[in-house]
Amino acid sequence: MFVSENLSVNEKGNLTIGGVDTINLTKEYGTPLYVMDEELIRRNCRSFKSSIEKFYGGNGLVCYASKAFCCTEMCRVMKDEGIGLDVVSIGELYTAIKAGFDCDKICFHGNNKTDEEIAFAVENKIGHIIVDNIPELERLNTIAKEKGIVAKIMFRIKPGIDAHTHNFIRTGQIDSKFGFALETGEAFEAVKKAISSENIVLRGLHCHIGSQIFDIDPFESAAEVMLGFIAKIKNELGFEVKELNLGGGFGIKYLNSDDPVPYETYMERVSEKVHKMCDELGINLPFIIIEPGRSIAAPAGITLYTVGARKEIPNIRTYISIDGGMCDNPRYILYQSEYEAIVANKASEERSEKVTIAGKCCESGDLIGENMPLQHADSGDIIAVCATGAYNYSMSSNYNRIPKPPVVFVKNGESRVVVKRETLDDIIRNDL
Ligand code: LLP
Repeated sequence: MFVSENLSVNEKGNLTIGGVDTINLTKEYGTPLYVMDEELIRRNCRSFKSSIEKFYGGNGLVCYASKAFCCTEMCRVMKDEGIGLDVVSIGELYTAIKAGFDCDKICFHGNNKTDEEIAFAVENKIGHIIVDNIPELERLNTIAKEKGIVAKIMFRIKPGIDAHTHNFIRTGQIDSKFGFALETGEAFEAVKKAISSENIVLRGLHCHIGSQIFDIDPFESAAEVMLGFIAKIKNELGFEVKELNLGGGFGIKYLNSDDPVPYETYMERVSEKVHKMCDELGINLPFIIIEPGRSIAAPAGITLYTVGARKEIPNIRTYISIDGGMCDNPRYILYQSEYEAIVANKASEERSEKVTIAGKCCESGDLIGENMPLQHADSGDIIAVCATGAYNYSMSSNYNRIPKPPVVFVKNGESRVVVKRETLDDIIRNDL
């Protein structure tokens, strides 16, 4: 009935998440409020993990892309599930380390890491520093040498695959700021340089073709290109690349019309492809890393808001104004992303209207969505926006000096705060 499997309606007609009444949550914690279902997060981790076990003999690692949603408790949950982590800044890395994460299971990304970030990663013996360009490789080698450490790296490669998704979240094609190009020979030169660098050990190659992808074909093509490159390195340099990181990007259901591929099917087909290619190319099967972010976090989350005003503009549209907006969910203004919304205290009623849900920021484009089917909503009603567990909290801002909402986890019918609501003093914390 709803877009995410963990949402339901109770006998009061209220929306529930993970079996917990959302209206009770708003009474306890206020709005706006991010709620995440910890059990669904864990189930998602397990389905990725078991797909590697089932189709690839367990010869791989799932690294959750923490940019989707990162906080200390989320890192603890990932650690507990035995999966790795993809981080992309010193802030995410620091959070993981503070949560007690095993640094050997961390992939550290970024197309322009600072010396401070590189030094921090080297000191903490990060398992996979994903090197994006030659100047970074050189700086990394120097810093590692100064510290007497051998840094373990992967190279980010542009496989030249054009995945069909929003322009801003496509990354695998030639015109991308991320990684080394294959066709210019730049990637091959980088490999040669790494092999001869004293304080660098090349563990593997990485690619990521984009995000919210529904097709398996581009993933298969990317694997094919990457394995071809691994074979070239073996044949021409006599060096065996042991690991292949295929990135993340698995699409999820934001609307009932979305039809994502089951994660199992992805691994089944990619694994088949990898086996076949390795056979043909005469190379060993690589250890595979995948980096799902959205698909682990997004379906597990909702955001709850209180309706302030209802504004009917005859023959034009009806605006339903809520107490959050682009500051807690900038995805509509950035990508025109569509969401399902429900009046949480009228969840068993029919969605009889089509409305525009508007945020409270001083900006006309601050919308959660337009033409959204919704139950009749009035002042004081609670609106739930679904599948907001990824790239909402993590991309939130203090625009208009609006404090960020808290994040609450629900599990076994209980709830707990994992990120506190920001206070007004937090807002002026760094002001002098
Ligand atoms: N690995 C790498 C190297 C990435 O750059 C990303 C996402 C992922 C993994 C995880 O991708 P996922 O499985 O979450 O699709 N802010 C945008 C998404 C940007 C994704 C950036 N990179 C959005 O809200 O849709």
